[in-house]
Amino acid sequence: MSLEVLLEVLSDGEFHSGDELGQVLGVSRTAIWKQLKKIEDLSLPLLSIKGKGYCIEGGLDLLSRPAIESVLSADAKCLITDLDIHKVVDSTNVLAMQRASIGESGYVCTAEQQLSGRGRRGKAWASPYACNLYLSVVWEFSGGAAALEGLSLAVGVAVVDALKKAGVDGASLKWPNDVLYNSRKLAGVLLEMTGDASGPCQVVVGVGLNVAMPKGQAIDQPWVDVKTINSNAANRNQVLGFLLNELMPLLANFEKSGFSVYRDRWLHLDAFYNKDVAIMLGDTVVLGVATGVDETGALLLKTETGLQAFSGGEVSLRIAE
Ligand code: BTN
Repeated sequence: MSLEVLLEVLSDGEFHSGDELGQVLGVSRTAIWKQLKKIEDLSLPLLSIKGKGYCIEGGLDLLSRPAIESVLSADAKCLITDLDIHKVVDSTNVLAMQRASIGESGYVCTAEQQLSGRGRRGKAWASPYACNLYLSVVWEFSGGAAALEGLSLAVGVAVVDALKKAGVDGASLKWPNDVLYNSRKLAGVLLEMTGDASGPCQVVVGVGLNVAMPKGQAIDQPWVDVKTINSNAANRNQVLGFLLNELMPLLANFEKSGFSVYRDRWLHLDAFYNKDVAIMLGDTVVLGVATGVDETGALLLKTETGLQAFSGGEVSLRIAE
């Protein structure tokens, strides 16, 4: 009996006795008990009450293809060639990179859980089961790496737009594409690329968005989730649909539009504008005042020696202490 089937039954948030679970799933109570132990290991709030049975407190908001598709716009539907909804994967970006490397474009995958979710700069991305959104999209660009300038910042703008549709107003951006709410991280974007840097290449756009993060996750920065910001916000499937409604047309048009059409909105959402900041370039620290981004998406910093521009790569930004 698979753990996923048990989670499906318990997703209604109601109590189910061990006997009932055994009968529904056609296995012994001992087998059920072993699987229930695994649910606890997933950090899900499993309640066990004598005489009543087992319940996942608050239920689970599981991913559902019809629910996602009911939110998708006609535009987004046309641009998606394949939508894979997985239970547990290592990383949706890894799966998407496999599709990217065979030249696909328009492939989308999501999962309930990632065992090795990847963040920027080699960090891990907390990806517990059925709590948040983990999404990767593959898109082909014919103009090589140059055509991608500013894409990761534009994706940040798209995520903020989707959040607004989902009932989260007031998210901001930290260069290049961290989505913040009251200085706490709400979503992150990881772009990976394969193919020819000067010819056709495939980009994987990975988005991780905290929807209802369980307590006790090892996360090394202040974070927040959608449900804490607005308990009446859209559910996971709807938020995923809203994200795709923004991301797919962005990707389809980006080679033509470039970053310039997103720049004003990015500047408007800039959480660090006019703040004293420190840029970390490996071991080197550059101090200055953040003054937005240029037309390529490079970060602009007013320093003692004049205005300097910093592009992606291994640059990281923080408020100066
Ligand atoms: C960041 O560090 O801010 C970027 C986080 C990106 C996480 C997402 S979750 C979906 C996709 N799959 C991954 O392994 N990473 C990205």
